[in-house]
Amino acid sequence: MNSISVAIDGPAGAGKSTVAKEVAKRMDLLYIDTGAMYRAVTFLVMNEGIDPNQEQEIIRIANNTSFNFSKDGSQIFVNGENRTKEIRSPKVSENVSLVSKIGALREVLVKAQRKLAENHNVIMDGRDIGTHVLPEADLKVFLTASVDERARRRFEELLETDEETSISFEEVKENILLRDNIDSTREQAPLIKAQDAHEIDTTKLSTTEVIEEVISLIRKVQ
Ligand code: C5P
Repeated sequence: MNSISVAIDGPAGAGKSTVAKEVAKRMDLLYIDTGAMYRAVTFLVMNEGIDPNQEQEIIRIANNTSFNFSKDGSQIFVNGENRTKEIRSPKVSENVSLVSKIGALREVLVKAQRKLAENHNVIMDGRDIGTHVLPEADLKVFLTASVDERARRRFEELLETDEETSISFEEVKENILLRDNIDSTREQAPLIKAQDAHEIDTTKLSTTEVIEEVISLIRKVQ
């Protein structure tokens, strides 16, 4: 196989990471979850009690943070510590889009993302991969789904990973709408579909159907 890069973008809860992770496994690609990196910085910011508006402090943190993923991309190590669970907390979800709109922070993380992808066959998911991080990607996919379906998926995921959570479906839906709004209206690298991306509406599709569709698109560009 020649070197290949696949960009998966879309709004929160569209199924990007579930699909990308499985496609990576089946096609032997390196999976890079860029949302986990924005979440990791947000987690550190919250942990240090820094306000999401304190840009200089946030950039300092990002510049001093190392990001590593497990081989299958499912675990993230932030400064050497496994923070996979903490970065999915409701508090991080509430603040991550505010932190992610800081242009200078994006520059730091985009650089790190390109470095992680260097010399690998990759599948990377996020909001700006096809438009900004990997504009020359061999395949660009834009995943969408109705907001209710996306909220349902995120809610179920939260119930599965944290049995003690007290969050309601409505709160999850509100968070998704809020993040989509901030992510798609920010100045730098907003969430938009790249002109040359294949859009897949996953509302009525099973995960397996979406995975197979992405794999068949990859086979066409290989
Ligand atoms: O993918 P996930 O929903 O975990 O991403 C969390 C947040 O990180 C998004 O809502 C967005 O604010 C930010 N993000 C981003 N650019 C990316 C990936 C994620 O701004 N490439």
